[in-house]
Amino acid sequence: MQIRVLGAAAGGGFPQWNCGCPNCRDQRAGTLGASPLTQESVAVSADGERWLLLNASPEIRAQIESCAALHPRARRHSPIAAIVLTNGDLDHCLGLLSLRESHPIVVCATDEVRRGFSENNALYRTLERFPGQVTWRTLAPATRMELEGLEIEPLAAPGKLPIHLEGSQPEAPGQNIGLLILDKRTGSRLAYFPAASSVTAQMHAALEAAGCVFFDGTFWSSDELIALGLGSKRAEDMAHLPVGGAAGSLAALARVRAPRRVYIHINNTNPMLRPGSPEAQQVAAAGWEIARDGMEMTL
Ligand code: MLT
Ligand code: MN
Ligand code: ZN
Repeated sequence: MQIRVLGAAAGGGFPQWNCGCPNCRDQRAGTLGASPLTQESVAVSADGERWLLLNASPEIRAQIESCAALHPRARRHSPIAAIVLTNGDLDHCLGLLSLRESHPIVVCATDEVRRGFSENNALYRTLERFPGQVTWRTLAPATRMELEGLEIEPLAAPGKLPIHLEGSQPEAPGQNIGLLILDKRTGSRLAYFPAASSVTAQMHAALEAAGCVFFDGTFWSSDELIALGLGSKRAEDMAHLPVGGAAGSLAALARVRAPRRVYIHINNTNPMLRPGSPEAQQVAAAGWEIARDGMEMTL
């Protein structure tokens, strides 16, 4: 299985347009020694010819251009066979509207995520320009789907409604999932959980069985935004398990020994983005990597 990180950042990217936090400030000044990050999306393929996109970020156009494997091979063509959504947050879905150039697309999502994006959304009509422009395929927890030589199994992950749907409907398990992706030919297994507020026993078992794990790296600490004076929400309020601390994901996933363990969906405020910081060192010492745009791996 081939994996390409198209974007490693959480919503807003790094640096974020309206953010002057120490990370964004030093990144703009060129003194941080890190690379800018676009919003989270990953491409996976069994054969290098047909690709699945995991999430469609607002930066999808530039992300596709940045990755030669995703370029057209004919006058009208795309190697992107399907897009798989893990939740309905705009940093995961907004890119769908950028794929409106009259090309049939296949989108795999839970019923909840499909409805949240397509119902009561006048802009969605741009993807209804002709019959069959979007084919939705339903992801249901514990039901496996074959896609381009890969077997996709969605797993419920504790999360939340997208911000634009808060208050409009009850929370439902299908609003946030992780993905287990199996290449049956090689037996390689990827576990992809870019958003999770906790680790269930079922998630832990799936993460332990994978050769490569991507996990929610949004915040280092619960009060990260509050301590920086950037907002009033704790990580928990946004349904993101922090990386650090006694109850954080580094501790919770200490028994996960996958050869590749990668944090993704990293918020621009996260101190682990600072090369050489104590937080970055702690992550590295635990055997975890921090995703960056353009990262490639073969499982
Ligand atoms: C999140 O990951 O919590 C959301 O993307 C936040 C947002 O939609 O701004
Ligand atoms: Mn997000
Ligand atoms: Zn910032």
